[in-house]
Amino acid sequence: MSQTTTWNSQSAPAHDQTPEAEWWRSSTIYQVYPRSWVDSNGDGVGDLPGITSKLPYLRDLGVDALWISPFYRSPMADAGYDVADYRDIDPLFGSLSDADDLIARAHELDLRVIVDLVPNHSSDEHEWFKAALAAGPGSPERERYMFRDGKGENGEEPPNDWKAIFGGNAWTRVTDADGNPEQWYLHLFDPKQPDFNWNNEAVREEFLSILRFWLDRGVDGFRVDVAHSLVKADGLPDHSAHAKMAGLSDANHDNGGPMWDQDGVHEIYRAWREVLDSYNPVDDERYDSAGDRAMCAEAWVNPPERLARYVRPDEFHQAFNFAFLETPWRASDLRESIASSYASNDAVGAPTTWVLSNHDVVRHATRLALPIGEPRPNGIRAEDPQPDAALGLCRAKAATALELALPGGAYLYQGEELGLPEHTTMADEARQDPTWERSEHTEAGRDGCRVPMPWAKDAPSFGFGSGDAPWLPQPDVYGDLAVDQQDGVPGSTLEFYRHMLRERRARRLGEGALTWVEGPADTVAFVNSRDGHEDLWCVTNFGGATTLPDDAVVVVRSDERDDLTVPTDVTVWFTRA
Ligand code: BGC
Ligand code: MG
Repeated sequence: MSQTTTWNSQSAPAHDQTPEAEWWRSSTIYQVYPRSWVDSNGDGVGDLPGITSKLPYLRDLGVDALWISPFYRSPMADAGYDVADYRDIDPLFGSLSDADDLIARAHELDLRVIVDLVPNHSSDEHEWFKAALAAGPGSPERERYMFRDGKGENGEEPPNDWKAIFGGNAWTRVTDADGNPEQWYLHLFDPKQPDFNWNNEAVREEFLSILRFWLDRGVDGFRVDVAHSLVKADGLPDHSAHAKMAGLSDANHDNGGPMWDQDGVHEIYRAWREVLDSYNPVDDERYDSAGDRAMCAEAWVNPPERLARYVRPDEFHQAFNFAFLETPWRASDLRESIASSYASNDAVGAPTTWVLSNHDVVRHATRLALPIGEPRPNGIRAEDPQPDAALGLCRAKAATALELALPGGAYLYQGEELGLPEHTTMADEARQDPTWERSEHTEAGRDGCRVPMPWAKDAPSFGFGSGDAPWLPQPDVYGDLAVDQQDGVPGSTLEFYRHMLRERRARRLGEGALTWVEGPADTVAFVNSRDGHEDLWCVTNFGGATTLPDDAVVVVRSDERDDLTVPTDVTVWFTRA
């Protein structure tokens, strides 16, 4: 049913064309979760040689870079986000020379490599933490972490009331060599992830050195874990609310606590930026734009003006736009979210960095089928209501097409190009996310989005590795969604992603200006324009079926029709004849 509309665009753009050509302003970056991408040695866990072997897949997909979640030495209490040695690869994933090979091969294929840096905490098996335990209260070794005496007559109560993100107390009491209880240490996450003391000069120096270590090995940048938590409020005041972080727990978006977004974090990142800038080549011929090294903040910070402080010109290059990820699937909310993101980041000259899925949230092919406007769950269990897979995929494709038409950078999460749903029926016994145990089985946790990739329907573990027992079980539906079932198949989600990424690159959409369009009711519609390129129109329909203007020439659409109709939950890119 068509409606009368004007399809007029506003006179002034809501976001201007990007004048600078730095790659990170407009790139699409693919997140590899190394445990779950390709297992080359059949031990059931993905590894670095596995990643290297599939880099051509990423080149052919059409992304510009990959971000690899942590691969460092680790006891794996939080799947590698508990680092025991920041300068070595865990044997489970390979060796430093495997990392060198990966970086070299990626560069040959014109793919940049971003590694994950975890500065808020180390593993409790890090040499520094072991030394801190051994050296005892008052020692310089203890000063590198957050040790405090307990409250109460005998120090038997924790120093304050903070709770850990994964559940339970944020403080754990240690015992001395004779087994007597003594001080407590802070861990915002698992007890095996003690928080560093970022007021300590040795900690600051150490991380500058770690940055250099990886920059010297040729990495193109860093994704920085919980970038908003390094500095805690002076005196560590009580915080009556639960110390939850929006991204990792239920939707208590309580990021105003004394552990989040303290003003003191910014000077840390200014020092890091100086290090990165000192590596930025002036005449690197490998790339057609500056070969800058870049860093991206994982900071669950609201409102957007607070987040924009992380991407001021002398701090981070990018910060994930999690507000967009969390915006309800409604035209008005999305328009508002997109507009406020541009307004805040444009004010500091930073790009906006779109993201819909990662290893911490329910995959968007499943999430978007959940009741609209309700808090996002931390995992879904078999006993929970099961979301409608077809609806989820339909909306996910529309959401990604909207995302990739927007100026700015974008991160894709491994497997979303196959339309992978969350594993929502995983047996509880298989769960590995510490959240499951620490929350006393009240939150399923993040395993459902971390399931190994299906590459081939009829191979063991769907081609993930030669072993038949991957570290997390794969749901049966992953077989039909495997790469070999979609490769070259018209109408498949994989070919849809390839097509979008090709068009996005050829048309330089990441660098465009955005002007809102008055489309039919219940749509998000805009024009993306770049000098020297045709205007690209994008419409996402949240209401009843509508139609494109008569002169529309379709470039991309998230469904398979071939007329000018735009059904509900569909995005279309088009030009005007
Ligand atoms: C990472 C999580 C991790 C946490 C603690 C995050 O935000 O993305 O996967 O559990 O930091 O390091
Ligand atoms: Mg392996």
